[in-house]
Amino acid sequence: MLNNASRQIIIELKGLMKRYQMGHSIVHALQGVDLKVVQGELLAIMGASGSGKSTLLHLLGCLDTPTEGKYLLDQKEVSNLSDNALAEIRANKIGFVFQSFNLIPQLTVFENVAMPFLYQRKEQDKEMLKKMITESLTSVGLAHRINHHPYELSGGEMQRVAIARALATKPLLILADEPTGNLDSENGKSILQLLKGLNSRGVTIIIVTHDPSVAAHCPRLVRMKDGRIIEERYT
Ligand SMILES: Nc1ncnc2c1ncn2[C@@H]1O[C@H](COP(=O)(O)OP(=O)(O)OP(=O)(O)O)[C@@H](O)[C@H]1O
Ligand SMILES: [Mg+2]
Repeated sequence: MLNNASRQIIIELKGLMKRYQMGHSIVHALQGVDLKVVQGELLAIMGASGSGKSTLLHLLGCLDTPTEGKYLLDQKEVSNLSDNALAEIRANKIGFVFQSFNLIPQLTVFENVAMPFLYQRKEQDKEMLKKMITESLTSVGLAHRINHHPYELSGGEMQRVAIARALATKPLLILADEPTGNLDSENGKSILQLLKGLNSRGVTIIIVTHDPSVAAHCPRLVRMKDGRIIEERYT
């Protein structure tokens, strides 16, 4: 295994700020965040409600741009790109996992996992696509559910499909906002084990969580307060 010093930096934030205008007042959601993440890390972000965790994850995921500061993703500055350019980066480099799974109920498991490929707007070989989707579902233990619909699955299974969807395009990193938040503790544990397993195979994962037992499994923890990082620990 390579140590951190010799691995590539894939995320670098410098003085990241995000402000929202709310009527006549301004919300300072992020107030100067500096962070480096190297390839292969499993990082937990914790902090009280309103501390800026989701805002940070949205910026990391190129779902939004910062008001000030720099964001280098995969060594390229992405802080000031157009919506189209950001969409392309999302489709090719980032996998998302959400608390509420965000599967499309009308689509089968296979079709849900195929969705990120549509956003890539690339010419895709159908057989190759099928292989990547099946591999991704196999890696989360759900190859046998491929033709089912989300409503036929348990919460834990739905989150596994969401993880398969996040993984299918082999993204540079996976961002998960409270991935165990809607699951009972048993299913939460197994989703965490799944994410840990992916990480041990080299996938970079950032998890926002309120749950200290989730964070305890992550080798690195960043704690936020009032839009700033106030603590970092490595185990
Ligand atoms: N789109 C928005 N417009 C205005 N204010 C926002 C917006 N999104 C977030 N905020 C504000 O920014 C601050 C940080 O919000 P954020 O959602 O990042 O917190 P969080 O740490 O994820 O909280 P939680 O643990 O409750 O999910 C909060 O004060 C919130 O009200
Ligand atoms: Mg949040």
